[in-house]
Amino acid sequence: MIAVPIVDIFNEKVKIGEKIKVTGWVKSRRDSKLGISFIDFYDGSCLKTLQVVVKEKIIQNYRKKILSITTGFSLEIIGNLSLSIGKEQKFELLSTDIKVVGNVKDPENYPISIKKHSFEYLRKVSHLRSRTNIIGSISRIRSDLIYFIHSFLKENGYLLVSTPIITTVDTEKSSKMFCVSSLDLNNLPITKLGKIDFSKDFFGKKTFLTVSGQLNLEAYACSLSKVYSFGPTFRAEPSNTRKHLAEFWMLELEASFLDLSELIQLSENMLKYVFKNILENREEDLLFLSKKTGINILKRLEKFIISDIIQVEFHDVIKILSRMENNLSSKLIEKDISEKQEKYLTEKYFNNSIIIKNHPKGIKPFYMKLNEDQKTVASMDLLIPPLGEIIGGSQREEIYSKICKNMKEKGIKKKNYEWYLDLRRYGTVPHSGFGLGFERLVAYTTGMKNVREVIPFPRTIRNAKF
Ligand code: 4AD
Ligand code: MG
Repeated sequence: MIAVPIVDIFNEKVKIGEKIKVTGWVKSRRDSKLGISFIDFYDGSCLKTLQVVVKEKIIQNYRKKILSITTGFSLEIIGNLSLSIGKEQKFELLSTDIKVVGNVKDPENYPISIKKHSFEYLRKVSHLRSRTNIIGSISRIRSDLIYFIHSFLKENGYLLVSTPIITTVDTEKSSKMFCVSSLDLNNLPITKLGKIDFSKDFFGKKTFLTVSGQLNLEAYACSLSKVYSFGPTFRAEPSNTRKHLAEFWMLELEASFLDLSELIQLSENMLKYVFKNILENREEDLLFLSKKTGINILKRLEKFIISDIIQVEFHDVIKILSRMENNLSSKLIEKDISEKQEKYLTEKYFNNSIIIKNHPKGIKPFYMKLNEDQKTVASMDLLIPPLGEIIGGSQREEIYSKICKNMKEKGIKKKNYEWYLDLRRYGTVPHSGFGLGFERLVAYTTGMKNVREVIPFPRTIRNAKF
């Protein structure tokens, strides 16, 4: 008999009286004096638990078998679905047979009890934390967010391109990269100049884990028109913050014949589509997370869907910030918006998500298109409270001579980027793209304050356990 997912029972795909099998784990058990036990049973398919009614009269070995069951046991249960008389739940399963598949060795010290655990504690047991309701809900929403991103992009004619994880190019320059090497660290080959000889390494040169697949994606956008990639990216971020991971997932999108304003529109449409579908499909988890976090997440997402994202020019942001900080805007202009400033803009001044666009060229990467003013680039950063920047993107510089000039100004050697420059040599085309930090999106959608709660096994500085 194939097991029925518990979610199908609550979606009324099973008839009352039908004999079914369910498989899963025990959340809790309580017993009445009348020889009846009630098992709260879950299988991860939804937040709700199924109440299983176990009667001494029906189940063989009731005392020995059932009364030893504790939280965490895995069971296979056969029974008949019934309407419940209790107010707590609509359905219950009247069990006729229970098989213990796996017991719990040390119930007293079971690391996940029904009582509330702090997020910090749960991170220490990342391998067990998906057994909690909260991480279960986050996991279902995370999975659906991925699904709806793919479906939006499919509906809009985008093709998935798998960009490499091992790379020789540093797309962003702003964060440190992890080196990938098969050299023996205890016996490194050394050049005549006393440096490590990477020509002896696996790839014959120095290679890294990618910080972004953008440059490779641009190559495919220059022939397939609309492409995207979705995969892990790596940054040796020493910063121990709520929004930085050393390994995070990024959705990157790139399209030819698309300018900055169309890119902004596309990003807004995509987020609205994704939130609408999450609201329709994950209401139960959203309600639960809202209760747990004290943030009305449903209202948050609904508000996002019905409002337009405010667009502001970078130089206007500087004016706002210089008033706030009593600071000279010329000082501010040399660096990008800080976390504190992001918070002020999104949570206080605008009290909304904002897109900051057309940043000074000095603070943005070499690939961004220079605007006609020769001072700013056609960039966009989408900031969403409370985590700040969730999307970073731009129109790309498609003119050969101009991108060469940008590289020179930024001290980037052309040698490694000849293939990238070929895209400007052979049938160049205006194109634009963005990268969305997926964990930041999940954190926004689940009301979490720290991205470490929304990725199964977070990698951060000094932390790569599990
Ligand atoms: O703004 P970033 O650095 O942009 C790029 O990498 C571009 N090449 C993307 C593109 O245009 N194809 O990163 C994009 C997004 C950020 O807006 C942020 O949401 C997220 O990635 N991000 C991080 N998320 C978690 N941990 C980190 N260390 C992150 N660094 C960036
Ligand atoms: Mg950025």
